[in-house]
Amino acid sequence: MRWSHFIFLQCLLVVIVGGIVYLHKDRVIMVKIPPASLAQWYKPENERQVWLHNMFKLRREMQAVRLYSDNKDAKHVEKWVTLLSEHYPKIGEMVPEWKKKLDMDAMTRLQESASSSRYQEVSSALDDLSASCESCHKDYRASTATMYRAPDYSLIEIDTSTTFKVHMEELSKQVNQVKIASEDGMQDIALSSLLDLEKGINVLGETCANCHKKQDAKVYPGETINNTITSLGESLRTGTLKDQGRELGTLAVLACARCHGTHRIASDIRKLFVDRQSWAELIKH
Ligand code: HEC
Ligand code: HEC
Ligand code: HEC
Repeated sequence: MRWSHFIFLQCLLVVIVGGIVYLHKDRVIMVKIPPASLAQWYKPENERQVWLHNMFKLRREMQAVRLYSDNKDAKHVEKWVTLLSEHYPKIGEMVPEWKKKLDMDAMTRLQESASSSRYQEVSSALDDLSASCESCHKDYRASTATMYRAPDYSLIEIDTSTTFKVHMEELSKQVNQVKIASEDGMQDIALSSLLDLEKGINVLGETCANCHKKQDAKVYPGETINNTITSLGESLRTGTLKDQGRELGTLAVLACARCHGTHRIASDIRKLFVDRQSWAELIKH
């Protein structure tokens, strides 16, 4: 093949891919995800949340420099600028890919103006530093926190043959089986499905301790959920269809929807970032 043909085909490919992306632009969002080198500063690769702790220090140091420079307190400005000038470059040492995102020029201006007590300049250098913090946060904070700090349920096992996801599907089937049998007047099936559901809820409760330590132990199912199961059982025996529907709805909110509101959202988004979809999948959808 001649070079000109080859180059023409390459250009055509770029145009086609570009065109497809453009056509989908209303339904696709671009999210930046952090470089892989960040992982070493998070669990499980690291015992401590090293990255996050450096960030907390930076925020405190920025606040202190601002405070003492407003009060023209040279001694304390010096102390906190020294700390800040230690922790700010650490960002680039920890994640070399992010070195170019640092405003080292502003850092130098901050050090010089602080040591000669030119507080107007201290303030403007702080503003510039702050802009560099915000620019990186805008791109990466949400994706980083979700990827490295949202819990990963794929690691949770209910028993050796049941994954967390499969257990969820079973719970959902039981909830709907209660509803279907109740609507169709099949009391025995409704009651036995409720019994299965209750067992499944109790088994789920044992998994909370995988992540929630004793001191902040999540009591699941807990008294309110157990009482709702009891009154749902009573209404399946003697109540009206309307009562049964209401009790089941309450149970689903308490025992399922509340947890989904925090855990499932975080888990779904985490998977979106971590197990990235391929371009082929994106285009197919
Ligand atoms: C090159 C990227 C980058 C720069 C520059 C940067 N940060 Fe961050 N920062 C992050 C990322 C990523 C997170 C999210 C970490 C997480 O939530 O686990 C974060 C989180 C934080 C948090 C925690 C937010 C919270 O409330 O939970 C604070 C505080 C913070 N940064 C302060 C600063 C300050 C102050 C500066 C500037 C002096 C700064 N950061 C500069 C990347 C950056
Ligand atoms: C894979 C780890 C993991 C498991 C298993 C887990 N949690 Fe959580 N949970 C977390 C983390 C991390 C947070 C804080 C961040 C968040 O909201 O995602 C949290 C937060 C929560 C919150 C909201 C914040 C609070 O403390 O009130 C509730 C409620 C909760 N969990 C309940 C439960 C219940 C109930 C179970 C068991 C059925 C459970 N969790 C199982 C990791 C887990
Ligand atoms: C720990 C809190 C928690 C509680 C309590 C909970 N769920 Fe879930 N549920 C999750 C999480 C996290 C996922 C996402 C799991 C995954 O995709 O790996 C999920 C996923 C699901 C799914 C989707 C499964 C799939 O195929 O992707 C269904 C259906 C479901 N839950 C039903 C229920 C029902 C019904 C209840 C109440 C009886 C319930 N869940 C209680 C956390 C919870």
